[in-house]
Amino acid sequence: MKIPNDPFIGTHYIGHEERQAVKKVLKSKSLFRYQGPNLLYKTDEFELNMQKYLNVKYVLACANGGSAIKLCCIANGIGPNDEVLMSPFTFIASASSVLACGAVPKFVDIDETMNIDPNAIEKNIGPNTKAILAIHMQGQPCDMSKIMKIAKKHNLIVIEDAAQAFGAEINGKKVGTIGDCGAFSLQAGKTITSGEGGFLATNNKRIYEIAKMYHDNGGFRNGCDYPTWENKETIFGENFKITELQSAIANEQLKKINLILQHQKNNYDYIINKIDKKFYNIRPSVDNSKLVYSNISLEFNSSDECNKFITFMNNNGIGFHIYCSNLINQFDTFKYQQSWHNSHFPYNISKYQETNCSKAESLFKRVAWFNLSASLKKKHLKYIVQKLEEYKNEF
Ligand SMILES: Cc1ncc(COP(=O)(O)O)c(C=O)c1O
Repeated sequence: MKIPNDPFIGTHYIGHEERQAVKKVLKSKSLFRYQGPNLLYKTDEFELNMQKYLNVKYVLACANGGSAIKLCCIANGIGPNDEVLMSPFTFIASASSVLACGAVPKFVDIDETMNIDPNAIEKNIGPNTKAILAIHMQGQPCDMSKIMKIAKKHNLIVIEDAAQAFGAEINGKKVGTIGDCGAFSLQAGKTITSGEGGFLATNNKRIYEIAKMYHDNGGFRNGCDYPTWENKETIFGENFKITELQSAIANEQLKKINLILQHQKNNYDYIINKIDKKFYNIRPSVDNSKLVYSNISLEFNSSDECNKFITFMNNNGIGFHIYCSNLINQFDTFKYQQSWHNSHFPYNISKYQETNCSKAESLFKRVAWFNLSASLKKKHLKYIVQKLEEYKNEF
């Protein structure tokens, strides 16, 4: 049997409802969120529905998760000379969105949960530290209680990168709504998707207003009027807007969120309840957290053991793998502080420091991941359990 590595969650739920919603927008000939001959206001509807789901005051839909992180930084005044603490175990966009604002990431080690280690945060706070980017990796919430306490003590901003954990909770609160603001992605591999797309969530009106202006080329827009730049509040900005087509799809996907999360959990529980937890070391999670079960991650004592396990699983058609090619702090772009500009912006202004992330380096090579595709059937789950059992008995 072949069970490939399939990271697409929401994608598998695209069906009749999404098709109908897209057709209606096409029929309206109004694909731009602010204007059109028969505008359906799908983006406004999505933002309102998302506000309700997240139980948050403001939601701004935007082009993608990366632009949502950039908007979070900009709306919090993060820029040149600032440093943002984050884990190196993430997708490059977490760091590049910070660099694009003129600030630099400072990489902080992780703990067994594979998220930023709160104990390592305090040791890395320096005179230029302005914010913590709490990245909830692979459906797993960061320890937000500890992070918020540290941030309060040191007067730091907290931005949450919830791109990989939409729907996860900690202490009854949705991730992305606990810090000053949260960034989410609607890219194809996420819990719900519109192919590309993203959104920002916050309870702070000022953050929302600045993000909204920046995402609209810096203009001040009243309802659906044409924006004005002749208001002393206005800033410069970029076009980070989402389209009505994407919002229509995201709206339908959001209606399916409980179904999606339950399906993921059922698949996870089926496997986890049947494997030997003395042999298989499952990634632990923070107390009182509700995960998005996007994957199974198993920790081994050494990289050799992990590779042996992956080879066995791959030989049996099951797509266990090392998360990706490397931690982002190992990428050349940071090693050589590369930039598109010959001044080496922003490294010429904001000082980038290499840091020790030894736990991340070790764990990264010792954890095997398997994405729990929403397309998995009972026969696949049974087969995975059978092979996990076989591996255990053989080695
Ligand atoms: C942790 C994390 N942050 C940010 C992003 C960026 O999201 P997008 O691809 O929508 O720009 C991703 C996307 O994969 C991600 O995994």
